Formats: sequence, C-alpha cells, structure tokens
Amino acid sequence: MRNITQHNVTDAVRKSFEAIDDTRLRFLIERLVTAVHGYARDTGLTHEEWRAALDFLNRAAAISNASRSEFTLLSDVLGLSSLVDLLAASPGATEGSVLGPFHSRGSPWVESGASLIKDNPGEPVLLRGRVTDTQGLPIPAATVDFWQNADNGLYWQLDSSQPQDNLRCQLRVQPDATFELMVIRPRPYMVPTDGPIGDLLRVSHRDAWRPAHYHVIVEAPGYRTLVTEIFDAEDPYVAQDAVFGVRESLVADFKPGNDPAVREKYQLAGAYRVVDCPVKLAPAA
Ligand code: BEZ
Ligand code: FE
Repeated sequence: MRNITQHNVTDAVRKSFEAIDDTRLRFLIERLVTAVHGYARDTGLTHEEWRAALDFLNRAAAISNASRSEFTLLSDVLGLSSLVDLLAASPGATEGSVLGPFHSRGSPWVESGASLIKDNPGEPVLLRGRVTDTQGLPIPAATVDFWQNADNGLYWQLDSSQPQDNLRCQLRVQPDATFELMVIRPRPYMVPTDGPIGDLLRVSHRDAWRPAHYHVIVEAPGYRTLVTEIFDAEDPYVAQDAVFGVRESLVADFKPGNDPAVREKYQLAGAYRVVDCPVKLAPAA
C-alpha cells in the first residue's frame, strides 16, 4: 500500500501476514498485530515510551543466556505463564503451575522410597502420593520428575556449594501407582532482580518472593503431562507469589509425622513432616 495512514496501517500489516501457510500461526500473528496496534492506540504511546519499552527488551536480551531467560521471567511476572497454564487446565485433573527456570532434563533416577536429603540441612519431609486418572484409577506406568531448592533458598544451579543435581530426581511409581520421597522443607525464594524485571518489580513496589514450593512433572503414556508445584500452606508469601503460580488445590499442609518406622527407614534422628500429593492426570487429547 502506497499511502499508509494511522487508519489503514493495522489492516496493511495484517494483510502482509496473510500468506502464512500454517493457519494457526497466521491467526496468532494476526491477533498479535491487532493487540499491539490496539495497545498503541489505547495508550497514545509516545516515541519516548516506545523507545523505553524497546530498551527494556534489549536489556532483557542482553542479560539472557543458555541458563537464564529474562523473557521467560517477564512472562512469569506478567502472569502470562500462569494464564497459559490455567487455560490448558483439564477438568478433574490436578492443576498445573509454572515450570520455572530450574528444571534440568536427565535428573538421576531413584527408586520410590529414596531419600534426597544426603548432606542437606533442613527439616525432613516425607512427600508421598499416588498417580491416578481423573476417575481415581491408578496409573502404574507414571513417572515423577521432582526438584526443589535447598535450605538456603537456592537451587543447585545457582549455588556452587551444592553438588550437581542436589535435591532432584526422577522415579517410576510403584505397581500400585504410589510414590514417596524423603526430602527437605522447601524455602521461599526470590526471582532474580538484577535485570530489567527487577526494575519492573521495584517500580511497581512488588515483592520478588515466591512462596516455598516443590516442583513435579508427572508423565504417563496416554495421559497429558502435568507440570505443577506443591506449596507450603504456612509460607508467608503463599498469597503473593511473584509469578502467580499458587492455586488453592496445590497448597499442602506440612503435617507433623511421628511414625517410628519412617524414622527408622530414613534414619531420621528427630521430627519430620508429611506432605500428601495425590496426582490426577487427564487423558491425552
Ligand atoms: C521457581 O520456581 O523457582 C521460579 C519460577 C518462575 C520464575 C523464577 C523462579
Ligand atoms: Fe521453583
């Protein structure tokens, strides 16, 4: 089009993408153009504001690397990651929650009933669950991928004092679809604030804290993979997660445990907690 005006520019841009073969991609781009042009119109976006936004994105790119994505964190603090999880929810299945940046593929395989405590300080927690379908039938083919932070609040990737793969594992559930692990009580954790997202949180007077949580990915052939978290009901940040991941159904009581057989099995000198984590998977689409 030769004469672009503010009245025809959005249509002209939309048209420029009409040749995308993939219908879903074409739809997504068309709606993106509509949304960002609508945003500029609604807000009367100025040159200075537009340049500041591009500078923000450039700073996000500059601080990102193979193990850190400031763009994922942007999606997280804007609640977009959480919204995508919520939109993908399957009725009757356990709710999903954010993956976060600290999952690593290929965690060590352990047997159900293993202890991940090793040399970690912290309050011992018996995490136990059963994987079923939405009708409650056991899924003995399920696997569980688990990770958490250490007692100092850090994941092993950010803390050279921890051994590689500290406090993470994969396991196959038992034939009755149950699993258990001896782990430690997780700690609240601050999302990174040394990049542009930190600036955004500060200017908004927002907390960078995430409430203490465990991460799990539960998979089984024929079922939708579940990526979710389990939150500590007693955590002070449970009602103000910086990345909006908390769902009431994922908030767990860390109940006092006092079974001598558990203390004996896991060689615990003192008190421990118990967290029940029933998991329901939806059938694959
Ligand atoms: C986390 O769970 O550790 C996490 C999630 C989102 C952003 C940063 C950290
Ligand atoms: Fe986390």
